[in-house]
Amino acid sequence: MERILDLGCGTGDSWRSLGLQVENFRIIGIDLQRDRVQAANLKYSTRGWHYLCARGEDMPLPDGSVDGVFCNGALPYMHIPRTLAELHRVLVPGGWLKVSLHAPSFTWSEFRTAFPKPKPSLYRAFVFFNGLILHFSGGVISLGKAVESCQTEAGMRIVLRRARLYGGEFSPRRGPIFYGGAAGRCG
Ligand SMILES: C[S@@+](CC[C@H](N)C(=O)[O-])C[C@H]1O[C@@H](n2cnc3c(N)ncnc32)[C@H](O)[C@@H]1O
Repeated sequence: MERILDLGCGTGDSWRSLGLQVENFRIIGIDLQRDRVQAANLKYSTRGWHYLCARGEDMPLPDGSVDGVFCNGALPYMHIPRTLAELHRVLVPGGWLKVSLHAPSFTWSEFRTAFPKPKPSLYRAFVFFNGLILHFSGGVISLGKAVESCQTEAGMRIVLRRARLYGGEFSPRRGPIFYGGAAGRCG
């Protein structure tokens, strides 16, 4: 059995959205919302999977304790550099990573939906701006507790390289971009 982390697991169904085969997976899920974690435990504890309430930026998992990670629609809400550093820590060398991301076009469509309501429009402008910072520097800034960003391939390449996560590929998938394959934790 492979030990697999579902990061930002919500109610535990990310694997369905990503179309993953889970027969050989023993899943640990992490999410910051307690009610979602409880729902996931209710749904999947009979499979021996379990779900914890924690932040992706600070995971209560030992070093090198997972063989692979999938993360569907959740990384854009996290502090990406800190979270990828944590993923490097918890993955075994050669472990894999599959992440769905929010392309700038996704954030633009959210901005258009929010416009002209002032607060939601300003928030979406912040998310877009954070994506620009990520694109050029591999960093993100926070607005209060929010660190949401959109992601480009160039920005993700910087931050993945800094986190010493190598070897994956990007592919367009219905809007969001996707980093998949053998991500190869290295060093
Ligand atoms: C759009 S939902 C996706 C849920 C699930 N992955 C799915 O595909 O159904 C995003 C999830 O990320 C979680 N999340 C956001 N920021 C987080 C953080 N810093 N650490 C852990 N989970 C986080 C949210 O609580 C939410 O459940």
